[in-house]
Amino acid sequence: MVYIWIIIFEFKGRWFILPITLEGDKRIHNQDSPICHAAQIHPRYHISAAARDYRLEQARLSMSKFPFPLPHGWFGLCYAHELKAGDVKKVRFCARDVVLFRTESGAACALDNYCPHLGAPLSQGKVIGEAIRCPFHHWQWDGAGRCVEIPYANKIPERAVIESIPVREINGMILGWYDRNGKPPYFEAPELAPLNGQGDGWAGVEYLQHDLPTCVQEISENDVDTAHFPYLHGMPALTEAESLTEGPIKKTTQMFHTNEEFLVGEAQSDNEYMSFRESHGPGLVSVWSKNITGVTPGVSGEFLLYSVATPVEEDRTLLRWSMIISEELAEDDMGKTMLQAYPEGVLADIPIWAEKVYQPNPVLCDGDGPIAKHRKWFAQFYE
Ligand code: FES
Ligand SMILES: [Fe+2]
Repeated sequence: MVYIWIIIFEFKGRWFILPITLEGDKRIHNQDSPICHAAQIHPRYHISAAARDYRLEQARLSMSKFPFPLPHGWFGLCYAHELKAGDVKKVRFCARDVVLFRTESGAACALDNYCPHLGAPLSQGKVIGEAIRCPFHHWQWDGAGRCVEIPYANKIPERAVIESIPVREINGMILGWYDRNGKPPYFEAPELAPLNGQGDGWAGVEYLQHDLPTCVQEISENDVDTAHFPYLHGMPALTEAESLTEGPIKKTTQMFHTNEEFLVGEAQSDNEYMSFRESHGPGLVSVWSKNITGVTPGVSGEFLLYSVATPVEEDRTLLRWSMIISEELAEDDMGKTMLQAYPEGVLADIPIWAEKVYQPNPVLCDGDGPIAKHRKWFAQFYE
């Protein structure tokens, strides 16, 4: 922020105007700011680390097209099969660089990417046993972020700790926890048996990944925006039969009823089945459709879609899908159509997400889905 002072004065019978500019920062001077208040510092002369983070977040928000920060929750670091023992990867996760590595015993670990010693990127390092070795001076860090070895020092400094990201490996994904206030996880990602190699009669998992020009909330809201399905996707509208929320968990039952507009291969489908959608936090959604009738007489089965949406930046999200279908249904035109229609559906949303704006007070009508209710539930993840 630049302040302009104007001084007007008279000298030897003539009037002069003298503009003076002073640099300052209104946001940091804001006495309502909890950071400035709590830090008890004069922001003009010194900025604490907390104030700096607050300032960075405000700056990012002012550049972002969405009026909220990154939500907290479990998000995806990578598919589990993409990280073998000894592998090291740099991933962009919730607007920060993270190093992801798998130790020799198989544990997936995630740390802040920059070494607290002199800032080298650990992603250029190497896995040594259960630790990662920094490429610069060979300090070694375990999965909890503790320095366990300095090859040339007698004593490891107490402050030699690096921020570790809580990790879970489940449903074929490596998940990481994010909370901008540093709070630990308070809910878990549930296990989905078919994605953990349990149960018979499932075909192989199909994976899909999209880098989307939008935020997680917009993607989440797409599911409850039932009115757009027929118009944008050419699909029947999904009616919400029941929706229950319990803290960060939301469970919705939907009846899927195909009509004459929805063709399966050459044949018209006559199908009615239930879909059970579960959200665990803002990023994890499973949609499990059961009792799907195939076009081939006597064929029926299930289809499970596991969607993991991960903030990359405030306005960029990496969407990863894992899709698994009953073996018999996978061979049927109905199953083939589903495996094709879901990925194609997202493609239609992408150009809209790229340009749409977030309407904080949308004008809704009685035929719209439960968008306002969904936003209320979602708001908890910004706390
Ligand atoms: S910068 Fe990592 S060990 Fe020195
Ligand atoms: Fe959509």
